Amino acid sequence: MSPTPTSDVLVVGGGVIGLVTAWRAAQRGLATAVVDPEPGGGAARVAAGMLAAVTELHYGEQTLLGLNLRSARRYPDFAAELTEVTGQDLGYRRCGTLAVALDADDRTHLRELHALQQRSGLASQWLSGRECRRLEPMLAPGVRGGLRVDGDHQVDPRRLASALVTACERAGVVFHRAWAERLTVVRERAAGVRTADGTELAAGRVVLAAGSLSGRLAGLPEQVRPPVRPVKGQVLRLAVPERYAPFLSRTVRAVVRGGQLYLVPRENGELVVGATSEELGWDTTVTAGGVYELLRDAHELVPGITELPLTETRAGLRPGSPDNAPLLGPTELDGLLLATGHHRNGVLLTPVTGDVMAHVLTTGELPEEARPFAPGRFTAAALAEQPA
Ligand code: GLY
Repeated sequence: MSPTPTSDVLVVGGGVIGLVTAWRAAQRGLATAVVDPEPGGGAARVAAGMLAAVTELHYGEQTLLGLNLRSARRYPDFAAELTEVTGQDLGYRRCGTLAVALDADDRTHLRELHALQQRSGLASQWLSGRECRRLEPMLAPGVRGGLRVDGDHQVDPRRLASALVTACERAGVVFHRAWAERLTVVRERAAGVRTADGTELAAGRVVLAAGSLSGRLAGLPEQVRPPVRPVKGQVLRLAVPERYAPFLSRTVRAVVRGGQLYLVPRENGELVVGATSEELGWDTTVTAGGVYELLRDAHELVPGITELPLTETRAGLRPGSPDNAPLLGPTELDGLLLATGHHRNGVLLTPVTGDVMAHVLTTGELPEEARPFAPGRFTAAALAEQPA
């Protein structure tokens, strides 16, 4: 016997992607529930919250760039709406970003990034080392040049997550604080989930938005299991005492020894330093080596950082996908949709993901902007059609 639906939509996962999906679905009149032991948790508890569509541009990711830019453009209205609904400030800050080079190799790399940005029609400005230091006096004297990107902003992901929980509650979203253990499939259709304590949650549709854990839900037919994997990131948080403020006035980033390093200063005096990128499965240990490397590289960039109190060290898991882009929309299993695989861009892609998922849930159609990100691109048949 099929379970009676208790909601139109059940979202598995209460991180920022699951929450924004639930909020937008509920706003459109769908009876929506979220299943997660700790809504508002997940990778956003660790993330720095850079909205860095331009400075995080990579070769071969131009399609993703389009989605990233669309989401970045929505951020001002999205943040204002969320603040209006909840009364909570998200720490959305239009502070801009400066990407700098520490040596000749870094400089070549940044010059290439600049050329790619220009070919892609993106606004960025090349600065000499001296000009970089004039903008950010705490930078090391050895900085060789940099790229000023005034359009790359930041938001505080913890505040974002907590505001989304409140917005969901106000919109009538029901929270089931439990682990979703198994997908229920009835007559070849997703019909809900069973939680770790044996409760059956039934729904008209299920949205799997469980970040790096999305592929682990039991009961998923193999052909719709999302190919996401955990990509570990270690992140540090420091405090800037009043006497040092403003320590940095914008996000500063660099590629040091091949790794991405960024320092994100918040208005409340927090300074977030990230991040390692490690393929270590489900390990979330904060290691001495990870902390050492982040501090060593950050010290090369901004020597004064060693004076600051270190307040927190954490590791989180990015949901990596085979092409670093998210999987959005319906799967081959009726009633099952995905909103996962956002990899390095989950916080940035939160507004557009909410809009895309609400659209597909209410109309059955994936909007044009999301079609390149349909989960079907990873089915065996689609992969077999791709050129070798
Ligand atoms: N987007 C920053 C990171 O994933 O480390």
